[in-house]
Amino acid sequence: MTTNDSIIAMEQIRKVYDTGKVQVEALRGIDLEISKGEFVAIVGPSGSGKSTLMNLIGCLDTPTSGVYRLTGQLVAGMKKDELATVRNRRVGFIFQNFNLLPQISAYENVEMPLLFGGVPRRERRRRVEALMERVGLADRMEHKPTELSGGQMQRVAVARALAMDPDILLADEPTGNLDTSSGGDIMELFQDLWEQGGTMLVITHDPALARRARRQVEIQDGLITRDTGSPGADSTPLR
Ligand SMILES: Nc1ncnc2c1ncn2[C@@H]1O[C@H](COP(=O)(O)OP(=O)(O)OP(=O)(O)O)[C@@H](O)[C@H]1O
Ligand SMILES: [Mg+2]
Repeated sequence: MTTNDSIIAMEQIRKVYDTGKVQVEALRGIDLEISKGEFVAIVGPSGSGKSTLMNLIGCLDTPTSGVYRLTGQLVAGMKKDELATVRNRRVGFIFQNFNLLPQISAYENVEMPLLFGGVPRRERRRRVEALMERVGLADRMEHKPTELSGGQMQRVAVARALAMDPDILLADEPTGNLDTSSGGDIMELFQDLWEQGGTMLVITHDPALARRARRQVEIQDGLITRDTGSPGADSTPLR
């Protein structure tokens, strides 16, 4: 079932949170495959398991059972430092509340994954400048997050997510804290990134953003209840 182009391949993924008093079955058997170049929206009611799924996909957490391969690599059994490397190299995260470090500049926030990834100083500078340019914030590099608008903060977060040239971008409600206009800008940016060959997975309550994705996956009560599947090759842009 796993193809060469497969970025995400999940079989019968379950996640049980054990908080002592209660056990929550957040995911109850997820089968999901996402290939290179797809633009997928995950939709579903509050508490259905969307963020849990994203955390598993991004290796922020591990499943209770099931098989997960990220770019062909089995995630189960990886040690902490291997998982950290996978998170740094393979996935880029974008969160609703931006998750920028408040004490440092936009430039330094974007540089962070490159520092962690051991990229030399001159290459770091080249890449951060190119990324800030790409998200339209070349003139805001020295600003701290508090000196930026919400839309600008999210664009810094997108630049940071792209820094290590990940295989997939994972965004959890990326427009949730933005007004319609800056939310629209972020949607445009995602569309551009996808058209340039990126692979995108976006969790969203926003129907306009969900419609931009070429594939919609609906989750209810820990199970996939609808998957429009990958469209034909005609609507998938080539690199
Ligand atoms: N760390 C945790 N410990 C215990 N239970 C959790 C934990 N995280 C999530 N849950 C539970 O797992 C279920 C799924 O939560 P999840 O955050 O994945 O939902 P969601 O679809 O992202 O919801 P929302 O749209 O509100 O963000 C919920 O019932 C939630 O209470
Ligand atoms: Mg959530």
